[in-house]
Amino acid sequence: MRKPLIVGNWKMYKTITEAVDYVDQIKDALPDPEQEEVELAVPTLFLESLVEHTRGTNLKIVAENCFYQDEGAFTGETSPLALRELGIKHVIIGHSERRRLFYEDDATINKKVHAALSAGICPILCVDETMKRKQEHDRIVWVVSQVISGLQGVKESELSWVTIAYEPSWAIGSGNEAATPQEANEGCYLIRQTIAHLYNDEVANQVRILYGGSVNLSNIKTLMQKDDIDGVLIGRASLDATTFLEMVNYQRFGH
Ligand code: PGA
Repeated sequence: MRKPLIVGNWKMYKTITEAVDYVDQIKDALPDPEQEEVELAVPTLFLESLVEHTRGTNLKIVAENCFYQDEGAFTGETSPLALRELGIKHVIIGHSERRRLFYEDDATINKKVHAALSAGICPILCVDETMKRKQEHDRIVWVVSQVISGLQGVKESELSWVTIAYEPSWAIGSGNEAATPQEANEGCYLIRQTIAHLYNDEVANQVRILYGGSVNLSNIKTLMQKDDIDGVLIGRASLDATTFLEMVNYQRFGH
């Protein structure tokens, strides 16, 4: 049974004071992690203090990115090994904003997946699709190729450490242009089929696949009810503590 996973992604929002205030509002009101896991991906600068601040709570702090080497002359980058030492257990890799704005290609993303795994951190590998591809009805090819290249060389025994997030870029940040629950489920199903093809049915049925892109209070419950959607990655709607808390408790509050 795949446990639901809700991940907020703050991107480059908030100051440390705002971050601590937000975390104080939610950290003691989260579900039992045996039933549902809740994580917040935050800017690198906040990681150390928020890890300390949330120790012993049901909130896990996640990194938004890392580099593919443990150390070296890489000005401005973040070592996966250093993240591990802080107690970080998950890192987002290959977010569409990293691919689009920072030119991260499939080979780089694959190296980052391996670096995270060797440091003992679970990657949340994001796979994208563009509006153009969607209009061309060609998104299947796009999504599958990113899954294959992102997982290249990842052993079957390592796959239980990997989470995949299906994030169509046309749905990200728009606020209202989320994929329909059917489209989102179709994307997640396709990713699961690809993993079954690359590995086998057993691991494909174990790996968690999230949907991300304009997830909000109105659509979270329906998305979470879909068979192949094991969780969501929430950007904009995670910035407000009250909204995020309601979304995490979607079973009670969801529309
Ligand atoms: P959004 O962002 O919820 O604001 O669309 C999702 C993401 O970037 O992961």
